[in-house]
Amino acid sequence: MPEWQDCFRQVAPELDVRCWDDPAIDAGQVRYALVWEPDHGRLARLPNLRLILSSGAGVDHITADPAWPRHVGIVRMGGADTVQRMGEYVCLGALSLLRGMKRIVDAQAARRWDTFETPCSAGDTRAGVMGLGNLGARAAAMLRDLGFVTAGWSRGRKSIPGVECFAGDGALDAFLARTDILVCLLPGTPDTRGIIGAASIAKLPPGAAVVNAARGGHVVLPDLLAALDAGHLSGAFLDVFEPEPLPPGHPVWTHSKVIVTPHVASLPSRRERARYVAEAIAMFERGEAPPNLYDPARGY
Ligand code: NDP
Ligand code: OXD
Repeated sequence: MPEWQDCFRQVAPELDVRCWDDPAIDAGQVRYALVWEPDHGRLARLPNLRLILSSGAGVDHITADPAWPRHVGIVRMGGADTVQRMGEYVCLGALSLLRGMKRIVDAQAARRWDTFETPCSAGDTRAGVMGLGNLGARAAAMLRDLGFVTAGWSRGRKSIPGVECFAGDGALDAFLARTDILVCLLPGTPDTRGIIGAASIAKLPPGAAVVNAARGGHVVLPDLLAALDAGHLSGAFLDVFEPEPLPPGHPVWTHSKVIVTPHVASLPSRRERARYVAEAIAMFERGEAPPNLYDPARGY
């Protein structure tokens, strides 16, 4: 909390920023709440709340609360730093899968000099990004710039130079069939839950690989592990799980074809998040629409 307060002092000294566990807080005076996984029912007990600010880009950690105040807007985390960091993570994942990084890291741990050839470079590899929103569109452009033959899939049709854009449920099979490295950057919604399961994995070409940086619920992990064991998939680079933290006994930790990262794909600095939040509040107070507002009709 002192670190958050320090960051807000630097970017918006006019804001009075408190920890919501502070017993001196008068709930009626709270106007804005910056949260991650708020205790259920807690936001509803702030009668004069004007705006909820999600400390992450996803809002499922807020809307999971049956009592979240639906008349209050939710601003999703965004901004250039968030977008850049996610693009870096996706490129890291795609390149790690392309170059057999898991094998290299395992060989180092065993002090084994394990030289091997990789069959393809980026120019022979088709990357496909599910979700072409704030994060996915930029990640696709960064993969394209690395030389991957890149496509993307979203609900509505997009146009990104040098990226083949697929749209809608009807185009999903064609998108999967041309994708060697599948990247998931979809929001967690009822429509996208379990979207990377046995049926969709079977539509990927043999030897394909998966990067999931969105939500654990997008991937049916037992199906993914079965496809890795059967050799249909060659690897996975996973940042998000259900539940988090991933339990120590989970088989994915020790799987020879999986790299696990602990939900770090895009975590901007506190200072950067404070700057983004302060700007969103300032826009709201000026009567302007803040950026990245959650749309309850779409569910993201
Ligand atoms: P956006 O809302 O900007 O973009 C979502 C994209 O997904 C849009 O292109 C949307 O299509 C598409 N989409 C949504 N539903 C469907 C569907 N049913 N079928 C096809 N496409 C669909 O989200 P962001 O890019 O800001 O963030 C994406 C997610 O990334 C977040 O929700 C969060 O879960 C995750 N995340 C993970 C982080 C990490 O550190 N691991 C950090 C930050 C975010 P359309 O454009 O047509 O609406
Ligand atoms: C998220 C985030 O939404 O970390 O997962 O921003």
